[in-house]
Amino acid sequence: MTPPRHVLEANRLKSLPKAEVHLHLEGCFDAATLARWAQAEGIALPRPQEDLFKFSGLADFLEFLDLACSLAGTAERLAQLSYDLAQRLADNGTGYADVIFNPTHWHAWHGRLGAMLDAIDAGFKAAEQDGLPSVGLCVSLLRTQSADEAIELVERLYTLRHPRVVALSVDGNEATAGRTGSRFAEAFRRAGQHGLRKTVHAGESSGPEGVWDAVNLLGADRIDHGVRAIEDPALVNLLAERRIPLGICPTSNVVLGVYPSIEQHPIEQLRLAGVQVSVNTDDPALLGASLVGEYALCRQAFSWTDEVTRSVARTSIEASFAGAEVKARLLTNLDHW
Ligand code: ADE
Ligand code: ZN
Repeated sequence: MTPPRHVLEANRLKSLPKAEVHLHLEGCFDAATLARWAQAEGIALPRPQEDLFKFSGLADFLEFLDLACSLAGTAERLAQLSYDLAQRLADNGTGYADVIFNPTHWHAWHGRLGAMLDAIDAGFKAAEQDGLPSVGLCVSLLRTQSADEAIELVERLYTLRHPRVVALSVDGNEATAGRTGSRFAEAFRRAGQHGLRKTVHAGESSGPEGVWDAVNLLGADRIDHGVRAIEDPALVNLLAERRIPLGICPTSNVVLGVYPSIEQHPIEQLRLAGVQVSVNTDDPALLGASLVGEYALCRQAFSWTDEVTRSVARTSIEASFAGAEVKARLLTNLDHW
């Protein structure tokens, strides 16, 4: 018997060679694991397990990350989480991922960045040895941190020079932090000098002004979200002309209330305006997203053909911070899809 259409479509999209460039380690906890860890630590979760991932918006969501991460206080748990993330990539046919990791959420680990990176790296190394996809780490500032804290993180990263780390990132809530581009400019300048790439959350909880600052003040190689750039045609032109890619997360934007529905999401308008867009899951376990699901959603909502699908996958690979060999292999495979 032929499998149903949506299963055939999922299998085809799984076989699409692609990268993921906007995915948080903090977004990969599953509810059963959190419930088990909370019980072992004698900590009460805020809601029953079946409602654990119901969020009222970005602020509520970010607060939950602090709680979830506080339960992963051992190297074994952190390594397991990283390994499971790589398994999630393989399940979606993702060939490589840039994974964002924000040390501020992990309270049990404060002051031990080197040990944390080693624990995460151990999980990813074990995954690679088992044939799972490779991962680069984007270490993230939180929007509410100070200029000094930001510089301290960058200098610490330079001292450690951990081979897993490929980029500096900034995430968190721009709506509560306000306009902070100039606060982080020096940290991002130094990151560039130290050979790190730069990726910036903007145009999710901020309007176009956050994206302008990411480009003009932080020198972003890539923007995470960036979707509200659509409100400023001059900015859309600039992103297209300079080929600054956007790592867009459609389901995340709908679940966290940036747009009321996928039909009202601007990814297609941005793409048609010539902006380099990729699709991503942001926080897949917590927001109920999968990479295959994101491609399927856009294909259905915007009638993406195979050619459009292939071009978006191409952007995901080209926009990633993967090494030249990994990129070349994925691009060759994509040509044969
Ligand atoms: N950290 C994890 N997910 C995030 C998001 N969608 N926006 C800002 N910070 C985040
Ligand atoms: Zn994000």
